[in-house]
Amino acid sequence: MIVVIDGPAGSGKSTVARALGRREGLTYLDTGAMYRCVTLAALERGVDPSDACALGALARSVTIAFGPAAEPGGAPTVLLDGRDVTSAIRTAEVDSNVSAVSGVPAVREAMVAQQRAVGAAGDVVAEGRDMGTVVFPDADVKVFLSADAAARARRRTMEREGTDPRTPGAEVRDLALYERICRDILARDAGDEAHAVGALRCADDAVRLDSTSMTADEVVDAVASLVDGARERA
Ligand code: DC
Repeated sequence: MIVVIDGPAGSGKSTVARALGRREGLTYLDTGAMYRCVTLAALERGVDPSDACALGALARSVTIAFGPAAEPGGAPTVLLDGRDVTSAIRTAEVDSNVSAVSGVPAVREAMVAQQRAVGAAGDVVAEGRDMGTVVFPDADVKVFLSADAAARARRRTMEREGTDPRTPGAEVRDLALYERICRDILARDAGDEAHAVGALRCADDAVRLDSTSMTADEVVDAVASLVDGARERA
């Protein structure tokens, strides 16, 4: 069973894919984390984000692995050449460079090969931008999850502030942070949509879900019922 969830930054893909993985016994694959690892390695090693050749070589040389989450239900631990980079790949500096790095075709080629190897090994729920269009075109379930930009920025800001955006009455505290994240999300959407290969795009046969006014549980239920349907047809 291969389930793919594509969509823009902050649409809720990670929360939904992780919960679905637990519920349906599927391995969770966060492909954005893989592009973030290559970006972090490039920043740390002083590789020029416009040097496609050097970025391709870097992407082929790094080892990216996932380990168990530090806390139940949390994000899996991300290992770059054996080092725990779970927090280091989520900084503002990585946020603002990752779209450029992930737009390099040689970087994508290296990551897509690894992603397909994970898919070939078993039952997977993979989230990203091109899972349904490029990496797993024959996936059993394809979802394209979107939400309006203000809702996505609100969720991301509250995550950074350590607040669960689902808490009733919870609000953004740092408006300057919210505005910066909102600008970053819009810039990243534009960059991700403009990639020559693997651009952010809804596959023709994907089910579109707009999570703007849905809770995470409602989205998980909707995707789980698509998975049940696919299992019945198999
Ligand atoms: O999902 P995320 O925000 O962690 O993804 C980080 C960046 O990686 C995002 O700007 C686009 C890129 N990405 C991609 O190009 N293809 C994927 N399959 C996943 C992410």
